[in-house]
Amino acid sequence: MKAVALKAYLPIQHPESLLDVDLEKPTPVGRELLIAVAAISVNPVDTKVRAPKSKIETDFRVLGWDAVGTVLATGPEASLFKTGDQVFYAGNIARPGSNSEFQVVDERIVGRKPVSISNAEAAALPLTAITAWEGLFDRLQIARDKQTKPKNLLIIGGAGGVGSIAIQLAKALTNVNVIATASRPESIAWCQSLGADLVVDHSASLVEQIRAQNIHYVDYIFCLNNTDQHWPTMAELIKPQGLICSIVELAGQVDLNLLKNKSVSFSWELMFTRSLFETDDIVEQHHLLNRVAQLIDDGSIKTTLNQVLSPINAENLRTAHAQLESGRTVGKIVLEHWPAN
Ligand SMILES: NC(=O)c1ccc[n+]([C@@H]2O[C@H](COP(=O)([O-])OP(=O)(O)OC[C@H]3O[C@@H](n4cnc5c(N)ncnc54)[C@H](OP(=O)(O)O)[C@@H]3O)[C@@H](O)[C@H]2O)c1
Repeated sequence: MKAVALKAYLPIQHPESLLDVDLEKPTPVGRELLIAVAAISVNPVDTKVRAPKSKIETDFRVLGWDAVGTVLATGPEASLFKTGDQVFYAGNIARPGSNSEFQVVDERIVGRKPVSISNAEAAALPLTAITAWEGLFDRLQIARDKQTKPKNLLIIGGAGGVGSIAIQLAKALTNVNVIATASRPESIAWCQSLGADLVVDHSASLVEQIRAQNIHYVDYIFCLNNTDQHWPTMAELIKPQGLICSIVELAGQVDLNLLKNKSVSFSWELMFTRSLFETDDIVEQHHLLNRVAQLIDDGSIKTTLNQVLSPINAENLRTAHAQLESGRTVGKIVLEHWPAN
């Protein structure tokens, strides 16, 4: 089968940082599904895993954790899907990724593809939707109830892949006032188009801009970019007894004591936790992806796709990785169609 893979971890400008290769088609076991991959999306995790280092892989390593495709075969214990079903999923970071014509994936982390949108539009969603859903509802514990007392949610990094779906899920399912951050006209307009109630610039003082709106504290903060940089600001803006969730690992160290006087809770969100540790509730990712598909199909939220590259090959994936590495992506980049033989 066709795949894009690496053996050496090289800067993205290097022609061998990602290679077009031919690999053996996998076979599904247990609760796995064999998927014919139709479209994939790229995420910063791909560039972080690919980041230059001296290690050399013995076998080709396939990256990519976001795909749409068709179920071609099911493992003997699979029961949630059947051959021919259209699905979308992010997959497991510890397994080969989706940058291949065929992939096996545990059915408990797979959802049905939304029927009302194209493969490319659907491929933009799974990894970021899982992250946003788990961050907003499992970690920040925001009530999925539009009748509750309105509260303020600050989303730092609103126009990125995760922010683009987090803004929409928060507006569609909860009663929060969404304050998103963006620093450029294009990303500000994108956040507004997705339903953000207020957009503030993360390259200037968030405290000053938010307080200028007569909002002294925010109830929730979802940090989707540069946790180190925003830590003191988050400590200042969070309401006493509020909740902060970050999805971005620290580059250095931060002072957890800044949260003590306010009895603030801080939590991490990693969307791979359930699949990495095969937690008891791993099937919740199947349920939440189905719920996201339903929200797309009933028009409550829309795709976050912003750019499509075709075909799926090493050259286009190198282009997509380079764009992600700029840190300036708005919405999602998707690749579709395998090259003809
Ligand atoms: N833990 C998890 O499960 C998980 C899951 C998904 C992603 N992540 C991580 O979360 C981060 C965001 O992912 P993503 O897919 O949303 O990324 P992305 O699409 O690459 O994010 C790009 C956006 O980041 C914004 N940005 C750049 N610098 C910023 C800063 N200093 N402060 C605030 N925003 C800034 C940019 O806005 P402007 O252009 O307006 O400046 C741009 O729109 C990445 O580090 C990724 O690895 C973690």
